[in-house]
Amino acid sequence: MRKILVTSALPYANGSIHLGHLVEYIQTDIWCRYQRMIANEIHYVCADDTHGTPVMLMAEKENITPEKLVELVHKEHSQDFNDFNVSFDNFYSTNSIENKELSESIYKKLANNNKIEKKEIEQFYDTEKEMFLPDRYIKGECPKCGAIDQYGDSCEECGSTYNPTDLIKAYSVISGTPPVKKKTEHYFFKLSECSDFLEEWTRSGTLQLEASNKLKEWFEAGLSDWDISRDAPYFGFEIPNAPGKFFYVWLDAPIGYMASFKKLADKKNLSFSEYWEEGSQTELIHFIGKDILYFHALFWPATLSFSGFRTPSKIYAHGFLTVNGEKMSKSRGTFVTARSYLDTIKNPDYLRYYYFSKLNDSMEDIDLNLEDFIVKVNSDLVGKFINIPSRTSGFIKKYFNNIIISTEEISIQDSKQIIDDLISIKEEVISLYEARLFSKLNRLLMSYTERVNEYVNRLEPWILAKNDAEHTSMSMLHQVCSTALQSFRVLSIYYSPVMPDLTSKIAEFYGESNYQSIEAIHKNIKNISDYKHLLTRLDKVSVDSMLRKNSI
Ligand code: 2FM
Ligand code: ZN
Repeated sequence: MRKILVTSALPYANGSIHLGHLVEYIQTDIWCRYQRMIANEIHYVCADDTHGTPVMLMAEKENITPEKLVELVHKEHSQDFNDFNVSFDNFYSTNSIENKELSESIYKKLANNNKIEKKEIEQFYDTEKEMFLPDRYIKGECPKCGAIDQYGDSCEECGSTYNPTDLIKAYSVISGTPPVKKKTEHYFFKLSECSDFLEEWTRSGTLQLEASNKLKEWFEAGLSDWDISRDAPYFGFEIPNAPGKFFYVWLDAPIGYMASFKKLADKKNLSFSEYWEEGSQTELIHFIGKDILYFHALFWPATLSFSGFRTPSKIYAHGFLTVNGEKMSKSRGTFVTARSYLDTIKNPDYLRYYYFSKLNDSMEDIDLNLEDFIVKVNSDLVGKFINIPSRTSGFIKKYFNNIIISTEEISIQDSKQIIDDLISIKEEVISLYEARLFSKLNRLLMSYTERVNEYVNRLEPWILAKNDAEHTSMSMLHQVCSTALQSFRVLSIYYSPVMPDLTSKIAEFYGESNYQSIEAIHKNIKNISDYKHLLTRLDKVSVDSMLRKNSI
């Protein structure tokens, strides 16, 4: 049995969960549910990423403390994840005592290992607001094309990149006043001294090929030391023995993975050190978006290693989500929040299934084409998958008192073969789940779904029902419908990590509590309950109303 600690990236506490975020949570959740199904010990943790300037300013705007804001957002996020059936073992907060203690102790160990350096730097300062300004909070005219209201790092009009100092008529986004330059002392993590370690680590099979190629580019460009401090006012943890200086949010955010696990370990009596000590035999796997690869493949392993902890076993990066082929956009209404999806479309399994059908192990972007979404849900799930029980279970109820023939007793050659084949693909199903080749796995499972439907079409139980006057047990009608239902059950077990709501209703239909183990495919089932409608078609009206809700 493998012991695996899995994480998804921590969502920022200054915004709602949207369909873009959900690509990752759904991908990770399917993988974790699959691991539970094959009886590995898995702990899936996450937390809200609470610190930094945006949270501080948002709280100020809303006239509440950052702690209060973080608390409200945590409730909202927890509810969203819960309603999408994201099965975290712990969803915590980076603004926790565990995280404070771990961040301080890691920082002290890095300092003891001579990996922290103080340097004086010059930064933009807002004299009215009396705070240093992150680059995103400075705007001005593009030095190349003169476009107004451009950010301090690049121009959205002409695409050129520059330093905030190059901006013409620069102003602070917060107060509107021109920023001045001011000296300040910052703390740096000496990443440049970690190149040898990191080059070796990134070659040790922890990364996808595309990710290690990206890393090669960064190594060639040379690693710079990393500024891990920010000046007050800042919402975060104050650096030990450095009054007025705070840890930069990206220092304590990944430590939040550890803190969330620490909380879980305390609650469940697990060993924290077994999972985090150097040389640990357990696995540590991070699911992330490709945009935060730099933090997870460079800063994070270096932070861990030079403070005496184990490093990640794998980093699985995915691409971005586009909607209808374009970047999500507020004006097109495609910046869809999780809550508005739940309010309009309601069923989380539709989206879970759609993402499953598109995802693989690469960093390629995936597209949510809303027309294709409707077509796929209706044709694959309603038209093919649910079609199996909906057109066979009625005969079992009417003529056979809801008793089905067990898999072993099915005697028609053709029928037996379908079930045997379905059972024999177990290892293939496992290896495709393991490798995150979800879209390939879906093609495999859908091909079997189609095969079962073709079988039903060919043997026409509705004709058998008319022709057979006796309806004896083991009659052809009984065998055909039982084959279809036994096959459907095996398919449902394979699909259970993907569609937990739907498949738990299916388990109930077979008189079972839930599909917790893949070994359930071998169980002998003899009874079904009355068939209740399992899934409704997805209509365009609810998709349109979801878009309307998100239009500004
Ligand atoms: O990019 C983001 O949304 C960050 N909040 C992710 C943090 S992941 C981790 F390292 F903390
Ligand atoms: Zn420009």
